[in-house]
Amino acid sequence: MLIIFQELTKNFEQSLLASLIKNDKKEEFEDLRKNLITQSSKEEFGDYQCNICLVLSKIYKKNPRDIASDFIKKLNKNKRILDLCKDLEIAGPGFINIKLKDEILIKEIKLNIKCPRAGVPLSSNNVKDRLPDKVVVDFSSPNIAKEMHVGHLRSTIIGDSISRIFELRGYQVLRINHIGDWGTQFGMLITQLKDLYANNLKEIDQIKISDLVEFYKSSKKRFDNESEFQERSREEVVKLQSGNTESTAAWNLLCNQSRKEFDEIYKSLNIKIKERGESFYNPFLKSVIEELDYKNLLVEDQGAKCVFLDGMTNKEGKPLPLIIQKKDGGFNYATTDLAAIKYRFNKAPDGDDASRIIYVTDHGQSNHFAGVFQVAKKANWIPENCQVDHVPFGLVQGIDGKKLKTREGDTIRLKDLLFEAVRRAKEDLLERLKNENRYETEKFILNTSRVIGIGAVKYADLSQNRITNYQFSFDKMLSLNGNTAPYLLYTLVRISGINRKNDLIDESKHSISLNYEHECEWRLIRKLLKFDEVIISIEKDLMPNRLCNYLFELCQTYNRFYDQVPILKEEKYKKISRLKLCDLTEKTLKLSLELLGIETLERM
Ligand code: ARG
Repeated sequence: MLIIFQELTKNFEQSLLASLIKNDKKEEFEDLRKNLITQSSKEEFGDYQCNICLVLSKIYKKNPRDIASDFIKKLNKNKRILDLCKDLEIAGPGFINIKLKDEILIKEIKLNIKCPRAGVPLSSNNVKDRLPDKVVVDFSSPNIAKEMHVGHLRSTIIGDSISRIFELRGYQVLRINHIGDWGTQFGMLITQLKDLYANNLKEIDQIKISDLVEFYKSSKKRFDNESEFQERSREEVVKLQSGNTESTAAWNLLCNQSRKEFDEIYKSLNIKIKERGESFYNPFLKSVIEELDYKNLLVEDQGAKCVFLDGMTNKEGKPLPLIIQKKDGGFNYATTDLAAIKYRFNKAPDGDDASRIIYVTDHGQSNHFAGVFQVAKKANWIPENCQVDHVPFGLVQGIDGKKLKTREGDTIRLKDLLFEAVRRAKEDLLERLKNENRYETEKFILNTSRVIGIGAVKYADLSQNRITNYQFSFDKMLSLNGNTAPYLLYTLVRISGINRKNDLIDESKHSISLNYEHECEWRLIRKLLKFDEVIISIEKDLMPNRLCNYLFELCQTYNRFYDQVPILKEEKYKKISRLKLCDLTEKTLKLSLELLGIETLERM
């Protein structure tokens, strides 16, 4: 219903300018027009409301209700407003409540029933003869030879959902896995590898490092304690950087082993992502330094080359530098990110030609990105009309509010965590089947518990305001009640059931007149029509929890409708009208779950 909303705003603005705003106040008005009309604070007030008269009353020192009544007189002369709205009402101290006409809502519902995206418009850059804008989503991005931890899980789930939302809107989305596959740590890892498997280095591909994380730890221990090992590790870094065949082969082995682990997780989460790790940007690092130098942005500080950041200070209040080249000449995480920004905004074929880059990492990297963005702006690497966003998220905690751990106090492996979610989902399912005296095949049981278990983990994460920390609880996320994946999946199963029983499906394909009278029907209609607004708002502020909240409300609204109005028992035309709402709810729900990366079920 976004289009209606925009049209209303435009017409309200015109009437306001024509009537209430005196010339000398035009500037103050610029600010006011941004929120001229807002969503209603309560459903029963109507579809939208206009609060401007309260603000104007302060500017003109007049009673807001009087201003509102004058304003309504003017609004009533606007033909389009008369077409769209029922009588405009003054409420409370001087709000104007706006209710759309029934026939307008029905017209919109009919459009959404036909629309494969349930009413979500394609982004405005979808025009003929031109490729739509490209959005890079940089997410997941674990590190080679290190554990992919719950932070990476959050990034993966949130990044995937954001990507899907942009895809639905018709953008070209480039999902990038910026894995940590470069850096001085490879010196010690390769040295350890060579020490342990010296005779076997030719068959390096066959060596199995079953526990890479342990391997990392033991290498680190030697690096910290044995000076000879440390020395060889340093030499190894130089060899690797200069492209030595043997070192590169060893590096590849390490990367491949990690990749196998990562891929297993991506497979169980059904994640598509293109690997383009830090090492990809190696050839471009030198020119980052050169260009910053040329643009007079580099400052030497204690031997390191850095850019001092505006408005960012350390604890002592001193300006904070972003180090671009270390004292020993080495490059770092920030250098790579700067090279990546340049590459991603560069025109094809030597770049991605992106118009927006979105980074999904934990909150701990906020300063890093603020610094990198600032330097990129100073260097003019972010083209006009292009945008970079960091999407930070909080920590995952156990129910005790502390870091998530196993009962024995170890860090939880992602694989085990997902496995546990599915195991518990299966336990719940078997219990339910027993209580209901149902028999189901093994295949059904495995698939259903997988979809519920994985869906529950994803939904629990996405439904939180990502900025706050969130408490990981299997019991909560697997519950059939509340704002959980099982509740949504169950509602969907219920709707699909009705739609399957619907013997009028063919007949109802023809355009027929839809009729509604029950309050529950209108509630559902209004909820369904909000879908596009929710999606567009996420495109702006990148908060997928908005979609989850919306879905939860949609399901509640639907369930009330389902409980209070008869559907299949109704006479034909009422029945068709109601089935149409079931159909659109099913479509909206399915599509939304898809946007959250959650598979759906026919039965459960
Ligand atoms: N590898 C990093 C980590 O594990 C995340 C990388 C995020 N992306 C980026 N372009 N810096 O924390």
